[in-house]
Amino acid sequence: MQALILAGGEGTRLRPLTTSVPKPVIPLAGRPFLTFMIDWLASHGVDQVILSCGFLAEGVEAVLGERHGDVALRYVNEREPLGTGGPVKLAEGEGLLEDRFLVLNGDVLTDIDVGAELALHERSGARVTLALAEVEETASYGVVPTAADGQVEAFLEKQEGPVPTNRINAGCYIVEREALSLIDAGRPASLERDLFPRLVGDGLYGYLADGYWMDIGTPERYLQGTWDLLAGDPPSDLPARDESGSLVYEPTITAGAQIGPQAVIGPHCSVGSDARIERSVLHSDVSVGPDAVVLESVLATGVRVGQGARIEAQTIVGQGARIGPGAQLPPGSRIEPGAEVD
Ligand code: GDD
Ligand code: MG
Repeated sequence: MQALILAGGEGTRLRPLTTSVPKPVIPLAGRPFLTFMIDWLASHGVDQVILSCGFLAEGVEAVLGERHGDVALRYVNEREPLGTGGPVKLAEGEGLLEDRFLVLNGDVLTDIDVGAELALHERSGARVTLALAEVEETASYGVVPTAADGQVEAFLEKQEGPVPTNRINAGCYIVEREALSLIDAGRPASLERDLFPRLVGDGLYGYLADGYWMDIGTPERYLQGTWDLLAGDPPSDLPARDESGSLVYEPTITAGAQIGPQAVIGPHCSVGSDARIERSVLHSDVSVGPDAVVLESVLATGVRVGQGARIEAQTIVGQGARIGPGAQLPPGSRIEPGAEVD
């Protein structure tokens, strides 16, 4: 089975993490994000993945290379952003797509049962089947009401106000290639706004998935996805967590520091004595001085935090930034890559 992963968006909501590193390969629990998706797909029989890249395209290929486990990786890089539909059409134009394939948003952490989705797709004779997830807040998603037999009744992308259901598009589609005839080649197109609405009543089905599902494309959800992986749901083959539920990669120096609960410390980090790292993520080569406190925040590669600094919840510190001794970052701070904060 073949899968195309949409991996070319700008990841604006995750800036400054995504200013220099493309969202699909930012480290999650210490591993390039897409490796979780590829492992999940492989467990459902996917053996070939096409990565559709645009923004910082070279960055994705540089990290993932030609193969992950048993899965062969190919790249289709677009010269201008083609949205979510244009890239699929581009891959078709290059003769890369089989008669039936999967399309995935490149930011979903999930253990959806693709085999069950495929069984419904075959039973219903669908042209496209969308996996659906149930969420509390629907506004940032595509809302998808369905009939009892799974037929999609409407596709409502990012609707304000009342919606008919809390079932949303989970970004995991089974597509018959012939359905792409509804998209024009050579220009940007949106699956959500151009293709799916046109397929309503004409072969578009929804499969209500259970299990874990999370779009990791905002800081809140990136952190939540991290904590969920640390807790073991969704399942993964991450190394064992310590007694505080944290993951500390070697080589790293944390003697005398309080790490956890639920922290991820990437390789080549150092955390000084009596510093506290709670429910936070340090990418690689981060140093945190003695007595500093980091709460529910993300420090990108190469960040330096001075002695006694305090970083409050939901802060993102971009690559290589320096936070001076005793500095205080209020909740929700965003520090640009390379910035210096006294
Ligand atoms: N190649 C390429 N080119 N990929 C792109 C482009 C582009 O121009 N624009 C976006 N993408 C990729 C992103 O990298 C991401 O993996 C995927 O397409 C979806 O884009 P997002 O920006 O993450 O969309 P969203 O989260 O706001 O909404 C989408 O996902 C929701 C579920 O998480 C929609 O599909 C919603 O309907 C859905 O509910
Ligand atoms: Mg998204």
